[in-house]
Amino acid sequence: MTTVPKPDLVIRNASIIDGSGAPARSGDIAIAGDRVSAIGALAHLSGASELDVGGRAVAPGFIDVHTHDDRAVLSDPNMACKVSQGVTTVVTGNCGISLAPLEPAAPPPPPSDLIGDRPEHYFADFGDYLSALDRDPPAVNVVAQVGHSTLRIGAMDRLDRAATPREIARMRGRLEDALASGAVGMSTGLFYPPANAAPTEEVVELAAALAPAGAIHSTHMRDETAHVLESLDETFEIGRRADVPVVISHHKCAGTPNHGRTLESLPKIDAARETQPVALDVYPYVAGSTVLNPHRMMNASRVIVTWSKSVPEAAGRDLSEIATAWGCSEAAAAERLQPAGAIYFIMDEADVQRVLTYPHAMIGSDGLPHDQHPHPRLWGTFPRVLGHYARDMGLFPLEEAVRRMTGLSAAQFGLTDRGVLRAGAHADLVVFDPRTVADCSTWEEPTRPASGIDLVMVNGRAVWQAGAGTGARPGRALRLQQLGPKGRNQEVPV
Ligand code: ZN
Ligand code: CU
Repeated sequence: MTTVPKPDLVIRNASIIDGSGAPARSGDIAIAGDRVSAIGALAHLSGASELDVGGRAVAPGFIDVHTHDDRAVLSDPNMACKVSQGVTTVVTGNCGISLAPLEPAAPPPPPSDLIGDRPEHYFADFGDYLSALDRDPPAVNVVAQVGHSTLRIGAMDRLDRAATPREIARMRGRLEDALASGAVGMSTGLFYPPANAAPTEEVVELAAALAPAGAIHSTHMRDETAHVLESLDETFEIGRRADVPVVISHHKCAGTPNHGRTLESLPKIDAARETQPVALDVYPYVAGSTVLNPHRMMNASRVIVTWSKSVPEAAGRDLSEIATAWGCSEAAAAERLQPAGAIYFIMDEADVQRVLTYPHAMIGSDGLPHDQHPHPRLWGTFPRVLGHYARDMGLFPLEEAVRRMTGLSAAQFGLTDRGVLRAGAHADLVVFDPRTVADCSTWEEPTRPASGIDLVMVNGRAVWQAGAGTGARPGRALRLQQLGPKGRNQEVPV
Protein backbone atom coordinates (compact mmCIF):
# COMPACT_ATOMS: atom_id res chain seq x y z
CA MET A 1 0.00 0.00 0.00
CA THR A 2 3.07 2.27 -0.05
CA THR A 3 2.30 3.19 -3.68
CA VAL A 4 -0.89 5.03 -2.66
CA PRO A 5 -0.25 8.79 -2.31
CA LYS A 6 -1.27 10.39 0.98
CA PRO A 7 -4.95 11.18 0.52
CA ASP A 8 -6.31 14.69 0.80
CA LEU A 9 -9.47 13.21 2.23
CA VAL A 10 -10.58 9.85 3.57
CA ILE A 11 -14.33 9.30 3.79
CA ARG A 12 -14.90 6.77 6.57
CA ASN A 13 -17.73 4.44 7.43
CA ALA A 14 -19.52 4.66 4.08
CA SER A 15 -22.12 2.44 2.48
CA ILE A 16 -20.43 2.31 -0.92
CA ILE A 17 -22.76 2.11 -3.92
CA ASP A 18 -20.33 1.83 -6.80
CA GLY A 19 -22.61 2.63 -9.76
CA SER A 20 -22.52 -0.86 -11.29
CA GLY A 21 -25.74 -2.01 -9.63
CA ALA A 22 -23.77 -4.27 -7.23
CA PRO A 23 -25.02 -4.40 -3.61
CA ALA A 24 -23.75 -1.65 -1.32
CA ARG A 25 -20.75 -2.58 0.82
CA SER A 26 -19.20 -0.91 3.83
CA GLY A 27 -15.84 0.75 3.52
CA ASP A 28 -13.77 3.89 3.21
CA ILE A 29 -12.90 6.03 0.21
CA ALA A 30 -9.61 7.89 -0.16
CA ILE A 31 -9.31 10.89 -2.48
CA ALA A 32 -6.00 12.29 -3.69
CA GLY A 33 -6.11 15.29 -5.99
CA ASP A 34 -8.94 14.81 -8.46
CA ARG A 35 -9.08 11.02 -8.22
CA VAL A 36 -10.28 8.28 -5.93
CA SER A 37 -6.96 6.78 -4.81
CA ALA A 38 -8.17 3.82 -2.78
CA ILE A 39 -11.42 2.22 -1.71
CA GLY A 40 -12.32 -0.51 0.78
CA ALA A 41 -10.93 -1.19 4.28
CA LEU A 42 -8.51 1.72 4.65
CA ALA A 43 -7.69 1.72 8.38
CA HIS A 44 -4.00 1.82 7.43
CA LEU A 45 -4.37 5.14 5.58
CA SER A 46 -4.82 8.57 7.06
CA GLY A 47 -5.95 11.55 5.07
CA ALA A 48 -5.05 15.23 5.38
CA SER A 49 -8.67 15.44 6.40
CA GLU A 50 -11.11 12.76 7.45
CA LEU A 51 -14.88 12.60 7.25
CA ASP A 52 -16.94 9.98 9.06
CA VAL A 53 -20.25 9.69 7.20
CA GLY A 54 -21.79 7.35 9.77
CA GLY A 55 -22.93 4.65 7.37
CA ARG A 56 -24.50 6.99 4.83
CA ALA A 57 -24.41 6.13 1.14
CA VAL A 58 -21.54 7.25 -1.06
CA ALA A 59 -22.17 6.94 -4.80
CA PRO A 60 -20.58 8.22 -8.01
CA GLY A 61 -21.80 11.73 -8.82
CA PHE A 62 -25.00 11.62 -10.83
CA ILE A 63 -24.89 12.21 -14.59
CA ASP A 64 -27.81 14.24 -15.92
CA VAL A 65 -27.95 12.90 -19.47
CA HIS A 66 -30.72 15.20 -20.65
CA THR A 67 -30.32 18.88 -19.86
CA HIS A 68 -30.83 22.31 -21.30
CA ASP A 69 -28.04 23.75 -19.15
CA ASP A 70 -26.12 25.08 -22.18
CA ARG A 71 -26.24 28.70 -20.99
CA ALA A 72 -26.82 28.07 -17.28
CA VAL A 73 -23.33 26.58 -16.95
CA LEU A 74 -22.01 29.97 -18.08
CA SER A 75 -24.55 32.38 -16.58
CA ASP A 76 -25.11 30.56 -13.27
CA PRO A 77 -21.95 28.47 -12.95
CA ASN A 78 -22.55 27.34 -9.36
CA MET A 79 -25.38 25.23 -10.79
CA ALA A 80 -27.17 24.89 -7.44
CA CYS A 81 -30.21 23.34 -9.14
CA LYS A 82 -28.05 20.36 -10.13
CA VAL A 83 -25.30 20.01 -7.51
CA SER A 84 -27.96 20.17 -4.77
CA GLN A 85 -29.27 16.88 -6.20
CA GLY A 86 -25.86 15.21 -6.40
CA VAL A 87 -25.41 15.84 -10.12
CA THR A 88 -21.74 16.23 -11.12
CA THR A 89 -21.95 16.01 -14.95
CA VAL A 90 -24.55 17.43 -17.36
CA VAL A 91 -25.12 16.56 -21.02
CA THR A 92 -26.25 19.67 -22.91
CA GLY A 93 -27.47 20.39 -26.44
CA ASN A 94 -30.62 18.27 -26.30
CA CYS A 95 -33.89 18.40 -28.25
CA GLY A 96 -32.24 19.94 -31.32
CA ILE A 97 -31.06 23.15 -29.63
CA SER A 98 -27.57 24.29 -28.62
CA LEU A 99 -25.79 27.64 -28.26
CA ALA A 100 -23.28 26.74 -30.98
CA PRO A 101 -22.46 26.82 -33.80
CA LEU A 102 -24.70 29.78 -34.59
CA GLU A 103 -24.30 33.48 -35.22
CA PRO A 104 -27.92 34.67 -35.26
CA ALA A 105 -28.83 38.11 -36.58
CA ALA A 106 -32.06 38.09 -34.55
CA PRO A 107 -33.30 36.06 -31.57
CA PRO A 108 -33.66 32.48 -32.85
CA PRO A 109 -37.20 30.99 -32.91
CA PRO A 110 -38.71 28.81 -30.13
CA PRO A 111 -37.75 26.45 -28.61
CA SER A 112 -34.22 27.92 -28.89
CA ASP A 113 -35.38 30.74 -26.60
CA LEU A 114 -35.42 28.18 -23.75
CA ILE A 115 -31.61 28.31 -23.72
CA GLY A 116 -30.75 31.61 -25.40
CA ASP A 117 -33.19 34.38 -26.29
CA ARG A 118 -30.62 36.94 -27.43
CA PRO A 119 -28.14 36.77 -30.32
CA GLU A 120 -25.25 37.46 -27.94
CA HIS A 121 -25.96 34.20 -26.11
CA TYR A 122 -24.71 32.24 -29.13
CA PHE A 123 -21.27 31.14 -30.35
CA ALA A 124 -20.43 31.00 -34.05
CA ASP A 125 -17.80 28.40 -33.33
CA PHE A 126 -18.43 25.32 -31.17
CA GLY A 127 -14.83 25.36 -29.96
CA ASP A 128 -15.39 28.89 -28.62
CA TYR A 129 -18.32 27.66 -26.55
CA LEU A 130 -16.15 24.96 -24.98
CA SER A 131 -13.29 27.42 -24.47
CA ALA A 132 -15.66 29.77 -22.63
CA LEU A 133 -16.33 26.90 -20.22
CA ASP A 134 -12.59 26.26 -19.84
CA ARG A 135 -11.97 29.92 -19.00
CA ASP A 136 -14.79 30.25 -16.52
CA PRO A 137 -15.68 26.72 -15.45
CA PRO A 138 -18.94 25.74 -13.78
CA ALA A 139 -19.32 23.53 -10.72
CA VAL A 140 -20.24 20.53 -12.91
CA ASN A 141 -18.61 18.72 -15.83
CA VAL A 142 -20.19 19.41 -19.21
CA VAL A 143 -20.65 17.10 -22.18
CA ALA A 144 -22.06 19.11 -25.08
CA GLN A 145 -24.04 18.11 -28.16
CA VAL A 146 -24.84 20.11 -31.30
CA GLY A 147 -28.51 20.79 -32.04
CA HIS A 148 -29.88 19.98 -35.50
CA SER A 149 -32.38 22.86 -35.25
CA THR A 150 -29.48 25.17 -34.42
CA LEU A 151 -27.69 24.01 -37.57
CA ARG A 152 -30.86 24.61 -39.61
CA ILE A 153 -31.37 28.11 -38.23
CA GLY A 154 -27.80 28.94 -39.23
CA ALA A 155 -27.98 27.48 -42.73
CA MET A 156 -31.52 28.10 -44.04
CA ASP A 157 -33.54 31.19 -44.92
CA ARG A 158 -36.78 29.46 -43.90
CA LEU A 159 -37.36 26.43 -41.73
CA ASP A 160 -40.71 25.14 -43.03
CA ARG A 161 -39.14 22.99 -45.73
CA ALA A 162 -36.49 20.31 -46.26
CA ALA A 163 -32.89 21.51 -46.50
CA THR A 164 -31.40 21.60 -50.00
CA PRO A 165 -28.24 19.62 -50.77
CA ARG A 166 -26.21 22.84 -50.49
CA GLU A 167 -27.72 23.62 -47.10
CA ILE A 168 -27.09 20.07 -45.91
CA ALA A 169 -23.47 20.40 -47.01
CA ARG A 170 -23.16 23.65 -45.05
CA MET A 171 -24.75 22.10 -41.93
CA ARG A 172 -22.59 19.03 -42.24
CA GLY A 173 -19.43 21.13 -42.47
CA ARG A 174 -20.39 22.97 -39.28
CA LEU A 175 -21.28 19.71 -37.54
CA GLU A 176 -17.94 18.14 -38.48
CA ASP A 177 -16.19 21.24 -37.24
CA ALA A 178 -18.06 21.05 -33.92
CA LEU A 179 -17.20 17.35 -33.54
CA ALA A 180 -13.54 18.16 -34.20
CA SER A 181 -13.77 20.79 -31.42
CA GLY A 182 -15.18 18.22 -28.99
CA ALA A 183 -18.97 18.03 -29.38
CA VAL A 184 -20.12 14.56 -28.32
CA GLY A 185 -22.96 14.20 -30.79
CA MET A 186 -25.96 15.72 -32.52
CA SER A 187 -29.48 15.97 -31.15
CA THR A 188 -32.69 16.51 -33.09
CA GLY A 189 -35.99 18.06 -32.07
CA LEU A 190 -38.10 16.85 -34.98
CA PHE A 191 -41.27 17.57 -32.97
CA TYR A 192 -40.56 21.31 -33.01
CA PRO A 193 -41.38 23.73 -35.87
CA PRO A 194 -37.72 24.57 -36.70
CA ALA A 195 -37.06 20.93 -37.60
CA ASN A 196 -40.47 19.39 -38.23
CA ALA A 197 -40.16 19.85 -41.99
CA ALA A 198 -36.84 18.01 -42.08
CA PRO A 199 -37.30 14.63 -43.75
CA THR A 200 -35.63 11.51 -42.37
CA GLU A 201 -33.16 11.69 -45.25
CA GLU A 202 -31.82 15.08 -44.10
CA VAL A 203 -31.13 13.75 -40.61
CA VAL A 204 -29.47 10.61 -41.98
CA GLU A 205 -27.14 12.68 -44.15
CA LEU A 206 -26.08 14.77 -41.17
CA ALA A 207 -25.92 11.86 -38.73
CA ALA A 208 -23.55 10.12 -41.15
CA ALA A 209 -20.88 12.54 -39.89
CA LEU A 210 -21.23 11.13 -36.37
CA ALA A 211 -20.04 7.54 -36.83
CA PRO A 212 -16.55 8.35 -38.17
CA ALA A 213 -16.02 10.68 -35.20
CA GLY A 214 -17.30 8.15 -32.65
CA ALA A 215 -20.16 10.49 -31.69
CA ILE A 216 -23.78 9.71 -30.82
CA HIS A 217 -27.24 10.83 -31.86
CA SER A 218 -30.05 11.76 -29.49
CA THR A 219 -33.58 12.68 -30.44
CA HIS A 220 -36.70 14.37 -29.21
CA MET A 221 -38.74 12.37 -31.65
CA ARG A 222 -41.16 13.72 -34.23
CA ASP A 223 -44.16 12.36 -32.35
CA GLU A 224 -44.60 11.13 -28.78
CA THR A 225 -48.38 10.79 -29.11
CA ALA A 226 -50.49 8.83 -31.62
CA HIS A 227 -47.53 8.12 -33.92
CA VAL A 228 -44.96 7.27 -31.28
CA LEU A 229 -44.27 3.83 -32.82
CA GLU A 230 -43.67 5.34 -36.28
CA SER A 231 -41.30 7.82 -34.65
CA LEU A 232 -39.40 4.96 -33.04
CA ASP A 233 -39.10 3.38 -36.49
CA GLU A 234 -37.73 6.63 -37.88
CA THR A 235 -35.22 6.87 -35.00
CA PHE A 236 -34.04 3.29 -35.55
CA GLU A 237 -33.75 3.89 -39.29
CA ILE A 238 -31.56 6.94 -38.73
CA GLY A 239 -29.39 4.96 -36.33
CA ARG A 240 -29.04 2.04 -38.73
CA ARG A 241 -28.41 4.05 -41.88
CA ALA A 242 -25.95 6.40 -40.19
CA ASP A 243 -24.47 3.49 -38.21
CA VAL A 244 -24.65 5.49 -34.98
CA PRO A 245 -25.87 4.76 -31.42
CA VAL A 246 -29.18 6.54 -30.77
CA VAL A 247 -30.65 7.89 -27.54
CA ILE A 248 -34.41 8.36 -27.35
CA SER A 249 -34.90 11.47 -25.23
CA HIS A 250 -37.45 11.62 -22.39
CA HIS A 251 -39.34 8.57 -23.61
CA LYS A 252 -43.08 8.94 -23.10
CA CYS A 253 -46.46 8.16 -24.63
CA ALA A 254 -48.28 11.47 -24.32
CA GLY A 255 -51.98 12.29 -24.42
CA THR A 256 -54.82 10.32 -22.82
CA PRO A 257 -55.54 8.11 -25.87
CA ASN A 258 -51.91 6.96 -25.76
CA HIS A 259 -51.71 6.18 -22.07
CA GLY A 260 -50.56 2.62 -21.54
CA ARG A 261 -48.76 2.45 -24.87
CA THR A 262 -45.32 2.03 -23.32
CA LEU A 263 -46.53 -1.60 -23.32
CA GLU A 264 -45.99 -1.36 -27.07
CA SER A 265 -43.05 1.06 -27.26
CA LEU A 266 -40.71 -0.68 -24.80
CA PRO A 267 -40.93 -4.14 -26.44
CA LYS A 268 -40.33 -2.38 -29.78
CA ILE A 269 -37.20 -0.75 -28.36
CA ASP A 270 -36.10 -4.14 -27.02
CA ALA A 271 -36.52 -5.66 -30.47
CA ALA A 272 -34.42 -2.89 -32.07
CA ARG A 273 -31.72 -3.37 -29.43
CA GLU A 274 -31.17 -6.89 -30.77
CA THR A 275 -29.53 -5.42 -33.84
CA GLN A 276 -28.41 -1.84 -33.09
CA PRO A 277 -27.40 0.38 -30.14
CA VAL A 278 -30.48 2.13 -28.72
CA ALA A 279 -30.70 3.89 -25.35
CA LEU A 280 -33.29 6.10 -23.71
CA ASP A 281 -33.67 8.59 -20.90
CA VAL A 282 -36.63 9.44 -18.69
CA TYR A 283 -37.65 11.94 -16.01
CA PRO A 284 -39.78 10.86 -13.04
CA TYR A 285 -42.92 12.98 -13.51
CA VAL A 286 -46.28 12.72 -15.30
CA ALA A 287 -45.93 16.24 -16.70
CA GLY A 288 -43.60 17.57 -19.37
CA SER A 289 -42.46 21.12 -20.01
CA THR A 290 -41.39 23.18 -22.98
CA VAL A 291 -42.43 26.33 -24.81
CA LEU A 292 -46.16 27.09 -24.80
CA ASN A 293 -47.18 25.21 -27.92
CA PRO A 294 -50.70 24.41 -29.19
CA HIS A 295 -49.72 20.83 -30.14
CA ARG A 296 -48.67 20.02 -26.59
CA MET A 297 -51.69 21.83 -25.10
CA MET A 298 -54.09 19.65 -27.06
CA ASN A 299 -52.84 16.55 -25.27
CA ALA A 300 -52.67 17.97 -21.74
CA SER A 301 -55.16 17.60 -18.88
CA ARG A 302 -53.65 20.61 -17.09
CA VAL A 303 -51.29 23.39 -18.22
CA ILE A 304 -49.22 25.59 -15.86
CA VAL A 305 -47.51 28.66 -17.32
CA THR A 306 -43.76 28.66 -16.52
CA TRP A 307 -42.88 32.02 -18.06
CA SER A 308 -44.39 34.62 -20.36
CA LYS A 309 -42.60 37.56 -21.92
CA SER A 310 -45.81 39.49 -22.55
CA VAL A 311 -47.51 38.72 -19.20
CA PRO A 312 -44.71 37.90 -16.71
CA GLU A 313 -47.15 37.73 -13.76
CA ALA A 314 -48.79 34.69 -15.41
CA ALA A 315 -45.84 32.47 -14.42
CA GLY A 316 -46.94 29.79 -11.96
CA ARG A 317 -50.66 30.07 -12.81
CA ASP A 318 -52.85 27.52 -14.55
CA LEU A 319 -53.72 28.38 -18.13
CA SER A 320 -57.39 27.49 -17.48
CA GLU A 321 -57.53 30.04 -14.64
CA ILE A 322 -55.98 32.72 -16.81
CA ALA A 323 -58.43 31.99 -19.62
CA THR A 324 -61.37 32.21 -17.19
CA ALA A 325 -60.09 35.49 -15.74
CA TRP A 326 -59.67 36.91 -19.24
CA GLY A 327 -63.00 35.53 -20.45
CA CYS A 328 -61.45 33.83 -23.46
CA SER A 329 -60.52 30.34 -24.66
CA GLU A 330 -57.30 28.66 -23.50
CA ALA A 331 -56.01 28.86 -27.07
CA ALA A 332 -56.62 32.61 -27.14
CA ALA A 333 -55.00 33.02 -23.72
CA ALA A 334 -51.96 31.02 -24.90
CA GLU A 335 -51.72 33.32 -27.91
CA ARG A 336 -51.71 36.43 -25.71
CA LEU A 337 -49.02 34.98 -23.42
CA GLN A 338 -46.51 34.39 -26.25
CA PRO A 339 -43.59 34.00 -26.15
CA ALA A 340 -44.08 31.71 -23.19
CA GLY A 341 -43.38 28.33 -21.63
CA ALA A 342 -45.55 25.77 -19.86
CA ILE A 343 -45.84 22.54 -17.90
CA TYR A 344 -48.17 19.97 -19.47
CA PHE A 345 -49.80 17.07 -17.64
CA ILE A 346 -49.72 14.57 -20.49
CA MET A 347 -48.55 11.22 -19.12
CA ASP A 348 -49.88 8.24 -17.24
CA GLU A 349 -48.20 7.30 -13.95
CA ALA A 350 -48.11 3.61 -14.95
CA ASP A 351 -46.20 4.52 -18.14
CA VAL A 352 -43.73 6.66 -16.20
CA GLN A 353 -43.07 3.77 -13.82
CA ARG A 354 -42.78 1.30 -16.68
CA VAL A 355 -40.15 3.43 -18.43
CA LEU A 356 -38.30 4.07 -15.15
CA THR A 357 -38.08 0.32 -14.51
CA TYR A 358 -36.95 -0.47 -18.06
CA PRO A 359 -33.46 -1.89 -17.44
CA HIS A 360 -31.73 0.37 -19.98
CA ALA A 361 -33.39 3.65 -18.93
CA MET A 362 -31.03 6.43 -17.92
CA ILE A 363 -32.24 9.29 -15.72
CA GLY A 364 -32.24 12.74 -17.30
CA SER A 365 -33.99 15.79 -15.85
CA ASP A 366 -34.88 17.77 -18.99
CA GLY A 367 -34.92 20.72 -16.55
CA LEU A 368 -35.29 24.23 -17.92
CA PRO A 369 -32.98 26.44 -15.85
CA HIS A 370 -34.06 29.85 -17.23
CA ASP A 371 -37.80 29.40 -16.65
CA GLN A 372 -39.30 31.79 -14.12
CA HIS A 373 -41.50 29.09 -12.53
CA PRO A 374 -39.76 25.91 -13.74
CA HIS A 375 -41.00 22.34 -13.81
CA PRO A 376 -39.88 20.81 -10.46
CA ARG A 377 -37.77 18.26 -12.35
CA LEU A 378 -35.05 20.93 -12.60
CA TRP A 379 -34.37 20.67 -8.83
CA GLY A 380 -35.91 17.30 -7.98
CA THR A 381 -35.32 14.57 -10.58
CA PHE A 382 -32.51 12.55 -8.99
CA PRO A 383 -33.66 12.62 -5.33
CA ARG A 384 -37.18 11.80 -6.55
CA VAL A 385 -35.94 8.60 -8.21
CA LEU A 386 -33.89 7.65 -5.12
CA GLY A 387 -36.48 8.62 -2.51
CA HIS A 388 -39.97 8.46 -3.94
CA TYR A 389 -39.53 5.74 -6.56
CA ALA A 390 -36.77 3.49 -5.15
CA ARG A 391 -37.21 3.74 -1.36
CA ASP A 392 -40.88 4.65 -0.91
CA MET A 393 -42.47 2.83 -3.85
CA GLY A 394 -39.91 0.04 -4.14
CA LEU A 395 -39.67 0.22 -7.95
CA PHE A 396 -36.10 -1.03 -7.73
CA PRO A 397 -33.30 -1.34 -5.17
CA LEU A 398 -31.33 1.79 -4.35
CA GLU A 399 -28.24 0.36 -6.07
CA GLU A 400 -30.25 -0.03 -9.28
CA ALA A 401 -31.57 3.53 -9.02
CA VAL A 402 -27.98 4.74 -8.70
CA ARG A 403 -26.83 2.65 -11.68
CA ARG A 404 -29.43 4.36 -13.89
CA MET A 405 -27.93 7.75 -13.04
CA THR A 406 -24.24 6.77 -13.03
CA GLY A 407 -22.69 3.60 -14.48
CA LEU A 408 -25.26 3.09 -17.22
CA SER A 409 -25.09 6.72 -18.35
CA ALA A 410 -21.29 6.86 -18.24
CA ALA A 411 -21.07 3.75 -20.41
CA GLN A 412 -23.56 5.20 -22.89
CA PHE A 413 -21.68 8.48 -23.28
CA GLY A 414 -18.17 7.04 -23.02
CA LEU A 415 -17.41 8.90 -19.77
CA THR A 416 -14.35 6.86 -18.91
CA ASP A 417 -13.56 6.70 -15.17
CA ARG A 418 -16.78 8.49 -14.24
CA GLY A 419 -20.08 7.02 -13.11
CA VAL A 420 -18.18 4.41 -11.11
CA LEU A 421 -16.53 4.40 -7.69
CA ARG A 422 -13.22 2.59 -7.77
CA ALA A 423 -9.55 3.36 -7.31
CA GLY A 424 -8.39 5.53 -10.21
CA ALA A 425 -11.80 6.99 -11.04
CA HIS A 426 -12.35 10.75 -11.14
CA ALA A 427 -13.47 11.88 -7.70
CA ASP A 428 -17.02 12.86 -8.69
CA LEU A 429 -19.15 11.62 -5.82
CA VAL A 430 -22.18 12.20 -3.65
CA VAL A 431 -22.77 11.42 0.02
CA PHE A 432 -26.47 11.04 0.82
CA ASP A 433 -28.78 9.61 3.43
CA PRO A 434 -30.90 6.82 1.89
CA ARG A 435 -33.44 7.20 4.71
CA THR A 436 -34.18 10.87 4.08
CA VAL A 437 -33.17 11.63 0.49
CA ALA A 438 -36.19 13.28 -1.17
CA ASP A 439 -37.17 15.84 -3.74
CA CYS A 440 -38.67 18.97 -2.17
CA SER A 441 -39.47 20.88 -5.37
CA THR A 442 -43.19 20.96 -6.16
CA TRP A 443 -45.53 22.37 -8.79
CA GLU A 444 -46.16 25.30 -6.44
CA GLU A 445 -42.61 25.70 -5.11
CA PRO A 446 -40.40 24.33 -7.86
CA THR A 447 -36.99 25.61 -6.71
CA ARG A 448 -36.75 24.10 -3.23
CA PRO A 449 -33.51 22.09 -2.94
CA ALA A 450 -33.70 18.37 -2.20
CA SER A 451 -33.15 16.96 1.28
CA GLY A 452 -30.71 14.24 2.31
CA ILE A 453 -27.84 15.24 0.00
CA ASP A 454 -24.93 15.85 2.39
CA LEU A 455 -21.84 16.34 0.26
CA VAL A 456 -21.17 16.54 -3.47
CA MET A 457 -17.66 16.51 -4.95
CA VAL A 458 -16.58 17.19 -8.51
CA ASN A 459 -13.04 16.30 -9.55
CA GLY A 460 -12.05 15.99 -5.89
CA ARG A 461 -13.50 19.30 -4.70
CA ALA A 462 -16.65 19.90 -2.66
CA VAL A 463 -19.31 21.84 -4.58
CA TRP A 464 -22.29 21.27 -2.23
CA GLN A 465 -22.03 20.74 1.50
CA ALA A 466 -24.34 21.12 4.49
CA GLY A 467 -27.23 22.35 2.39
CA ALA A 468 -25.40 25.03 0.43
CA GLY A 469 -23.12 25.51 -2.53
CA THR A 470 -19.44 25.98 -1.69
CA GLY A 471 -18.72 28.33 -4.60
CA ALA A 472 -16.03 25.96 -5.96
CA ARG A 473 -16.20 25.47 -9.73
CA PRO A 474 -14.03 22.46 -10.56
CA GLY A 475 -16.12 21.28 -13.55
CA ARG A 476 -14.56 20.48 -16.91
CA ALA A 477 -15.78 20.72 -20.48
CA LEU A 478 -15.22 17.13 -21.60
CA ARG A 479 -14.32 16.75 -25.27
CA LEU A 480 -15.35 13.91 -27.56
CA GLN A 481 -11.66 13.09 -28.02
CA GLN A 482 -11.28 12.45 -24.26
CA LEU A 483 -14.20 10.05 -24.14
CA GLY A 484 -14.35 6.31 -24.67
CA PRO A 485 -16.58 4.24 -26.95
CA LYS A 486 -20.25 5.17 -26.75
CA GLY A 487 -23.39 3.06 -26.68
CA ARG A 488 -21.58 0.39 -24.67
CA ASN A 489 -24.56 -0.58 -22.54
CA GLN A 490 -25.57 -2.57 -25.56
CA GLU A 491 -25.14 -6.28 -25.98
CA VAL A 492 -25.18 -6.54 -29.77
CA PRO A 493 -25.05 -10.18 -30.86
CA VAL A 494 -22.15 -10.88 -33.21
ZN1 ZN B 1 -37.26 17.42 -25.65
CU1 CU C 1 -35.25 18.39 -23.62
